[in-house]
Amino acid sequence: MKNPNFKKRGFLPLSMTISEALNKARVLLSDSCPRPQLEAQLLLAYFLEKDRIYLTLHDREEIEHLEDFWRLIERRANHEPFEYIVGKVSFYDSELFIHQGVLIPRPETEILIDRVAQIIANANIKRIVEIGVGSGAISIVLARTFPHLTIIATDLYEAPLKLAQKNIDHFGIKNIQLIQSHLMDRIEGTIDLVVSNPPYIANGFALEKNVKDYEPHSALFGGEVGDELLKAIILDTQKRGIGYLACEMGYDQKEPLKSFFAQHAIESFEFYQDLAGLDRGFVVRF
Ligand SMILES: C[S@@+](CC[C@H](N)C(=O)[O-])C[C@H]1O[C@@H](n2cnc3c(N)ncnc32)[C@H](O)[C@@H]1O
Repeated sequence: MKNPNFKKRGFLPLSMTISEALNKARVLLSDSCPRPQLEAQLLLAYFLEKDRIYLTLHDREEIEHLEDFWRLIERRANHEPFEYIVGKVSFYDSELFIHQGVLIPRPETEILIDRVAQIIANANIKRIVEIGVGSGAISIVLARTFPHLTIIATDLYEAPLKLAQKNIDHFGIKNIQLIQSHLMDRIEGTIDLVVSNPPYIANGFALEKNVKDYEPHSALFGGEVGDELLKAIILDTQKRGIGYLACEMGYDQKEPLKSFFAQHAIESFEFYQDLAGLDRGFVVRF
């Protein structure tokens, strides 16, 4: 038992009213969660297989067999991300399956998708590649938005590829092909656009506990400097004569990447920011 609040779990009541359970859970989550009340509600709703409104309308209802509920609360109190506990993540207009071993898609990646969608809608884009598919978040949104697009999505690791396939099957998507590959090494043929949210954090960068202890480091860390994979993707896309590249990047990588573009005679590029105003990605027109 990692969390001292749970050392005496034997004393956590196994039956109480909804309102009492919520209060107790809120207190247990207060050291580790930014929104303990909300997360207590969401976890109790998940445990009871009800929605949050039910909890408000039935706050005096007596509930029993709470052992598994306290286990969920303990996992969250130990900083495990909420999404891994419930096995689902809301992303863009979809809900995806997620589990440990695969990166939880982030809201800022929705901006990358919007950038790519603009290009696809306005240029003659038929076949694209996503490098580092993870849960499938980017490719699935694009495949559902543009059913006539062919998407080839790679990942170096089996766990994300398996989960991406599960998410693809869940939506009945037919226009994504998954390939296990380092970057685009195993891809041939004409490609019109490459999109990627690769690992771009510098090795050893101090991340928050919920990220560092639970999310796969292979999805986060991009090398000693952080931008090594981004640079490899830029060069490979240029070498293959592909027209467009859109990538997410770290908030502090704009200047080094600008110099890199200059060194490699890449002239047509644009950086974009996330909703917090931080530099977050770029689009290159080769
Ligand atoms: C930051 S995650 C992005 C996942 C997903 N596209 C998203 O936006 O949520 C990076 C992904 O790249 C994969 N990856 C890491 N190194 C790779 C490589 N050399 N070639 C292909 N994929 C790689 C990781 O396994 C991980 O799934």
